[in-house]
Amino acid sequence: MDYQKHLKILKETLDQHKITPENLREKRKSIKEFPKQINNRVIDAFQSFAPFDRAPVWMMRQAGRYLPEYREIKAEMDFFATCQNPFIAAEITLQPTKQFDIDAAIIFSDILVLPKMMGMEITIEEKKGPVIANPLQTPADIQKLHPPNPEHLEHVYDALFLTRLALQGKCNLIGFCGAPWTVFAYMVEGGSSKLFSKVKKWLYLYTEGSQQVLELLAKESAKYLINQVKQGGAQVVQIFDSWAGQIPAIDYIEFIIPSLRILFEDFKKECPDTPLIMFPKDQNDKKVIVEFLKLTLNGKPLIDGFQLDSNISDETLVKIIEANRTIQGNLEPGVLYGTNDIIKKRISQMIEKLQTTRRYIINLAHGLTPDHQVEKVRLFVQESQRQSKLYKAKEILE
Ligand code: CP3
Repeated sequence: MDYQKHLKILKETLDQHKITPENLREKRKSIKEFPKQINNRVIDAFQSFAPFDRAPVWMMRQAGRYLPEYREIKAEMDFFATCQNPFIAAEITLQPTKQFDIDAAIIFSDILVLPKMMGMEITIEEKKGPVIANPLQTPADIQKLHPPNPEHLEHVYDALFLTRLALQGKCNLIGFCGAPWTVFAYMVEGGSSKLFSKVKKWLYLYTEGSQQVLELLAKESAKYLINQVKQGGAQVVQIFDSWAGQIPAIDYIEFIIPSLRILFEDFKKECPDTPLIMFPKDQNDKKVIVEFLKLTLNGKPLIDGFQLDSNISDETLVKIIEANRTIQGNLEPGVLYGTNDIIKKRISQMIEKLQTTRRYIINLAHGLTPDHQVEKVRLFVQESQRQSKLYKAKEILE
């Protein structure tokens, strides 16, 4: 397949730096400086003293099937093939930055790339989502897992590198991984699940085995994120714990946070200045957030910001803001199916509630989906920026 024809946005950068598939790796190792940062709004949202005109905006799953230009590529390539081709992954990452005036690009990849490299046989099937042919069934299966061959993840760092060059400092670049619990859930359930009964059985019956896998994932995820920053040029990292809400707070604190702590610590030891955003989806219990806020290394927080879902309670929100951490979110993505009036109204309410802190990044509460319309997404970006500016101006007057 001639993938080169799809490299529309990236082409200029490839020509400018004379990058080819043959010399990409070599270029990545030799180009030490990225273009000067013109728009640093996302990183600035982690420093209360940085001046600001409005809150930054980006959207989870902003690169994906709701974009016709993504569907064009996907019509010809398998999902993991798009992730594994650094040129295509960079092109897809850039697509939403051409459509919208967003303040961050998130690298096009998937949380399942890491377990795929650790021995899980994963495919993404239309309408079904991820399917794993060899799920973990009993603790005896743990021995089938192996640390990823570092070579096999280099394409992610290549894609980050190409994207960072092509962005020309116009917005920040975000790297990510799945949280150990969410990745473990896929590895055991064998795909998406409604009941999560298999992974719950592991957690409560094969507790030791579960801890073993969670720790292994934590350590490998930390290495993966460190490389995304140091090798690829990611400027912020986000950890997606999409299934955090599937177990009660008491279990999340006892069984899950210890492995997350390993991930955060390993990462921050190597990348102390790179902001880390945690997304414990639907796990808003104040007790959990308080545990997260306690995690520090050399007196510095391990978690710099929290992606909020739409159910965050005022009580939990106050805790986060008082601890001087950044908040990101949290418009219910379903609102974007609605009328322009309801979209504008909900954005206004979100900003009133969340822009009370300088440390705020506008986002959705969860990812965009294939049925979102490009024009509604554009309205979200434009209207959020407009209202955020107005809100900021009002604040000065008061
Ligand atoms: O945000 C972005 O734009 C970056 C890309 C990104 C993808 N997956 C691309 C993707 C990110 C950050 C993810 C994270 C991810 N992947 C999560 C955490 C976030 C969340 O949504 O909760 C999870 C749980 C996964 C696992 C996963 N991968 C699922 C459930 C699916 C199927 C979903 C679907 O829409 O079909 C995937 C595949 C996937 N990952 C797609 C994309 C664009 C769709 C694949 C396709 O185009 O055929």
